[in-house]
Amino acid sequence: MKIVVAGTGYVGLVTGACLSEVGHSVTCVDIDEKKIQKMKQGISPIYEPGLGELLKKNNDNGKLNFTTDYKNAYKDADLVFIGVGTPEREDGSANLDYVFNVCKQISDNIEKDCLVVVKSTVPIGTNDKVEEFLRENLKNNDIHVEVASNPEFLAQGTAVIDTLYAKRIVIGVESEKAENIMKEIYKPYNQPIVVTNRRSAEMIKYASNDFLALKISFINEIANFCEMVGADIEDVAKGMSFDPRIGDKFLKAGIGYGGSCFPKDTKALHWLANDNGYELKTIKATIEVNQNQKYKLFRAAKQRVGSLKGLKVAVLGLTFKPGTDDLREAPSIPNVRRLLDEGAEVVAYDPVGEDNFKRIYPNIKYVETPEETLEGAHMAFIFTEWDEIKKISPTQYIELMNNPILFDGRNCYKINDMRNFGIDYYSVGRKAVLNLKNKSNKEVAATIM
Ligand code: UDX
Repeated sequence: MKIVVAGTGYVGLVTGACLSEVGHSVTCVDIDEKKIQKMKQGISPIYEPGLGELLKKNNDNGKLNFTTDYKNAYKDADLVFIGVGTPEREDGSANLDYVFNVCKQISDNIEKDCLVVVKSTVPIGTNDKVEEFLRENLKNNDIHVEVASNPEFLAQGTAVIDTLYAKRIVIGVESEKAENIMKEIYKPYNQPIVVTNRRSAEMIKYASNDFLALKISFINEIANFCEMVGADIEDVAKGMSFDPRIGDKFLKAGIGYGGSCFPKDTKALHWLANDNGYELKTIKATIEVNQNQKYKLFRAAKQRVGSLKGLKVAVLGLTFKPGTDDLREAPSIPNVRRLLDEGAEVVAYDPVGEDNFKRIYPNIKYVETPEETLEGAHMAFIFTEWDEIKKISPTQYIELMNNPILFDGRNCYKINDMRNFGIDYYSVGRKAVLNLKNKSNKEVAATIM
């Protein structure tokens, strides 16, 4: 079967590369010629462990092709996977323009029966609309075109593994024929397959992402409350995690979730429910808690030193999580904005996110190592728990910083390790360690004079 994948972002490119890896013949379509040329050489346009190797290997053995010539690609495709973006509109709803642009190209060019598989995260009911659109716009009415929903559950940084060793494959179909084709395609993966109708498949995707986001906002609220009553969120989460009904995943408190999915998909589902006259209260709360959580440590910093004007602030970690260069909805972005607005001098470090951050903040100082960030700093923020950052020892903060006050948004350190070290340590869901408490705010500020 000839498989074509539309879109070479996270979803499309990883889908195409992994389908070719298990033996299918795949053509990836993108409009960007430069990007296509790079991918042909095995250069992945996104930072994703293992992806470059898959691109190179399967391009070399002829299983994976790249082209801008979508007309020829769609012409004789048996299956077209749509893996383009569905970005957030201003009102929170999903923008489906890219999906329908691809649909137009497919309906204009296919010359034989084709199964169109929607991998992009789309609002419930979209697959029906896609099928209707394709059928209405077909140039040749003798062709049978059908649509299947096949949502993607990969996480950035582990996308290849998440796809090749998926925990489940969800297939939403309306006919036995489509079900059989999809099962055939996924046979080599040897993973559990959930077959359902298209609307349920679309809902599974949103419900899964929104549940994970809810879990994070829940643990973050409990963390905030822990601080007030003297409990320790790390111990609380551990104690909860032994219950298999709760599990040990997504219980890590911090300064909130970011990324290309959770923020967008919580808003999209909330919007969609509202549009249907229903308020998803848990999702509304998830969004609100996350919004508030982002600035938690910034507020603590303001409270600690009063004015940030003229202070040198070390920013450790820029990406929305480790293992990716993606900055979408990263808590670092609005926090750096606030630091700059307050008149702080920001020095930033991230092992891979620097180039992307420079596009947003070209004028702050970037350094090559976490240690350089700390030199002479009056306070430091950790926004991403990269290994390079977790490796900094408490003594290094003391040796390198002008004033060792650390705001750790990812709870990178054990609280006991930070006691008696001569450093002020603020984290999430744990009582602040105030070794410098005898130093007044004025004294802290005076160190910059
Ligand atoms: C997520 C889903 O995991 C994936 O299944 C879906 O297909 C796309 O969205 P991703 O956005 O790549 O993947 O990252 P993920 O690892 O889920 O983390 C998302 C955000 O939540 C990050 O900002 C991370 O720091 C945060 N997070 C995660 C927490 O704050 N606490 C946790 O316990 C887990």
